Amino acid sequence: MSTRNDKQDVETTGHSWDGIEEFNNPLPRWWVWIFYATIVWGIWYTIAYPAWPGLKEATAGYLGFSTRERVANEIATVDAANAEMVAALESVDLTTIADNADMNSFATKMGAAVFKSNCSQCHGSGAAGAVGYPNLLDDDWLWGGRIEEIAFTVTHGIRNEQSMSTRGYGGVMPAFADSLSHEDIDSVVNYVLQISGQEADAALATAGETVFLDNCVACHGEDAKGSLATTRSFEDPADLIADGEMLGAPNLTDAIWLYGGSADALTATITNGRGNVMPAWSEEFRGTSGLTQAEINAVAAYVHQLGGGQ
Ligand code: HEC
Ligand code: HEC
Repeated sequence: MSTRNDKQDVETTGHSWDGIEEFNNPLPRWWVWIFYATIVWGIWYTIAYPAWPGLKEATAGYLGFSTRERVANEIATVDAANAEMVAALESVDLTTIADNADMNSFATKMGAAVFKSNCSQCHGSGAAGAVGYPNLLDDDWLWGGRIEEIAFTVTHGIRNEQSMSTRGYGGVMPAFADSLSHEDIDSVVNYVLQISGQEADAALATAGETVFLDNCVACHGEDAKGSLATTRSFEDPADLIADGEMLGAPNLTDAIWLYGGSADALTATITNGRGNVMPAWSEEFRGTSGLTQAEINAVAAYVHQLGGGQ
């Protein structure tokens, strides 16, 4: 029951406390209509869009909208836009990438992504390497820093037994523990210290030079500058196939070390030998988890432009 309030002619609820009455003002029309509209809209929304949780998944919604589908469509659009570039990259002459600004920018971006997900766990996210894993930023190469050579290394791996063309097929730094005496190892260590510009015992180093000439030059070269220059006589990329003959014996005269240049590290290397393996990445050796030719070309372009490319 409501009664009228004399003074203002406003409906009250009839509630009264000590003469204070409660007005019963109606809500403004516009407010009420908006309120009804939100209810209608809310119901429409739960019908039109996925809303009601079910046991396994929510209702699909009348409009069939799906964020997953939208992302898939966006990816498909980007893929379609890139398809032409990827196709070109698949069969590009690697040496021409750097001269083609569009291709170069596309390849190095794609290559950076490939590197991040496939190579950084060994070579480091910045490609600076670690003990046993070469730094790819410098211009010191075991297997060559020309873009075709990098692509070849990535395709076939290093000491990867699946590929007859792998880098260093069957070749490692041998262990000299059995063939050289402790004294000989000690002296050749001093020789290596000396030629790499470090402090060394001069007498031991002189004796070590003989040990070196007798045991090491076949791989590291008479000048100890490594096997790359001598084994890399090809100019024609087709000659890369003959690269199973490459040795990958490092230059011992620079201050760049794969396993460390201290007397202790050198002694360990010469006594126990070394021979690290890099997996092959092409689909030929890895099946569907391998990299496509376009991805290999892209990552080669990326590594090539990191600074040490030849
Ligand atoms: C499982 C570890 C591992 C992964 C992953 C790996 N590498 Fe390597 N990589 C190596 C090792 C070890 C060597 C050095 C082998 C040796 O001692 O000669 C190497 C050597 C190289 C070289 C030769 C460097 C030189 O001096 O000639 C290149 C180029 C290279 N890796 C590129 C890549 C790229 C690109 C990827 C990703 C597609 C990759 N690597 C992934 C371990 C790895
Ligand atoms: C059969 C070829 C071969 C012979 C012989 C050989 N080396 Fe090596 N050496 C290698 C290869 C290959 C590597 C690189 C191994 C790797 O990448 O894992 C290497 C690596 C090294 C390293 C490591 C360099 C670094 O950057 O950490 C040193 C030091 C070395 N050799 C010294 C010698 C000495 C001294 C002799 C002689 C007593 C010798 N090597 C004989 C092939 C050879």
